Amino acid sequence: METVCVLGAGSTKYGKLNDSISDIAVQSSINAIENACIKPNEIEAGYISNVFGIADKQVHLGPVIMSNLGIPDKPSLSIESACGSGSVSLREAFANVAAGFYNAVLVTGVEKVTQTGTEWTTTYFSYCSDFFYEGQAGASFPGLFASMARAYLNEYDATEEDFAAVAVKNHNNGLLNPKAHLRKKITIEDVMESPIVASPLKLYDCCPFSDGASSVILCNEKFAKSHTKDYVKIIGSGRGGSPAALQGRDHMTTIPSTKLAAQAAYKMAGISPTDIDFAEVHDCFTIAEIVDSEDLGFFDKGKAADAVRNQQTELRGSIPINPSGGLKSKGHPIGATGVGQAVEVFDQLTGNAGERTIKNAKIGLTHNFGATGASCAVHIFQNV
Ligand SMILES: CC(C)(COP(=O)(O)OP(=O)(O)OC[C@H]1O[C@@H](n2cnc3c(N)ncnc32)[C@H](O)[C@@H]1OP(=O)(O)O)[C@@H](O)C(=O)NCCC(=O)NCCS
Repeated sequence: METVCVLGAGSTKYGKLNDSISDIAVQSSINAIENACIKPNEIEAGYISNVFGIADKQVHLGPVIMSNLGIPDKPSLSIESACGSGSVSLREAFANVAAGFYNAVLVTGVEKVTQTGTEWTTTYFSYCSDFFYEGQAGASFPGLFASMARAYLNEYDATEEDFAAVAVKNHNNGLLNPKAHLRKKITIEDVMESPIVASPLKLYDCCPFSDGASSVILCNEKFAKSHTKDYVKIIGSGRGGSPAALQGRDHMTTIPSTKLAAQAAYKMAGISPTDIDFAEVHDCFTIAEIVDSEDLGFFDKGKAADAVRNQQTELRGSIPINPSGGLKSKGHPIGATGVGQAVEVFDQLTGNAGERTIKNAKIGLTHNFGATGASCAVHIFQNV
């Protein structure tokens, strides 16, 4: 297996964007190509993650992006895996570079949905659930994660204020990220007093609907070394699955696909959770960050709320979680999110994360799932 490296990364701002879906995808792709200091024709294939291109009248995005980059002859693959599309794309690109099929590839994730409005976007997103049991019965994603939050409150020593503290932390981190969607300082009281979306989750417990695009250039180490440029190695990659509908699971407070993906990634990297210096995790709702950080092995079951209370997951804590601001503050353009997490880890490990740079960080982890965790991918990155 070839060693797979990230040679460059780029992103648009996340938020409500006016440009078309293909324009923003091309912008972030160009950013990554320039950041990698390569020429477009050095890219041998494109991996494009997107869920609702149809909402902006463009599917089959791969050839459109490659054509706009001036490399229409290069093959591309579109990948849809709900909110986990970006990390699944990264995994497929990783596997193909590791197997030696390509020396260098482009991975771009993109989403453009804000123009459809909350009602329609909520309906579209519900198509990513197990629609027969969930979406069709009126269960939106805020509703499904609210069920998990209620179960967690019943089972463990946690409060709604602990969930709120996750939002406060991620908004603080997002304030340091010029590309974040919601750059606004909030307090526990703001969260507690914000409108209820699906009890116990309130407005500030939820990620927003966002537009945005993110890209990375993956390559083998020989290619990376032939370019005089900082690069980062991907030392672990794992995938996992869970029953698609929440009702099919044994427990509401754990996500099986996260555990499986994490175990596989740790095994490939030959490390354990205590070796991770920081992580970008899938905090679509505040409860998700609590559950993720336990499933990833950072804290014992039922103890993540304590860790948040003790500020362990803050930027200067013992295991910073979501230094970018996470889905909660940086935003959640669903097809782009998993790639955007890799962009943050690349920027952190190459010392380019500005004020939110985590000093002396050597190993970073990304965790991104689709729906309520029906599909998941975890990646582990190390600086050289
Ligand atoms: C929470 C949610 C229902 C809010 O939608 P909404 O009530 O239509 O909100 P609007 O877009 O009208 O925005 C109203 C205000 O709240 C803010 N806002 C919207 N969503 C926000 C969020 N998630 N967090 C903080 N502020 C938010 C807006 O910026 C706006 O502020 P302003 O009036 O100062 O400009 C919606 O963002 C949502 O469903 N989020 C979850 C998305 C999701 O399920 N993703 C998939 C995860 S698996």
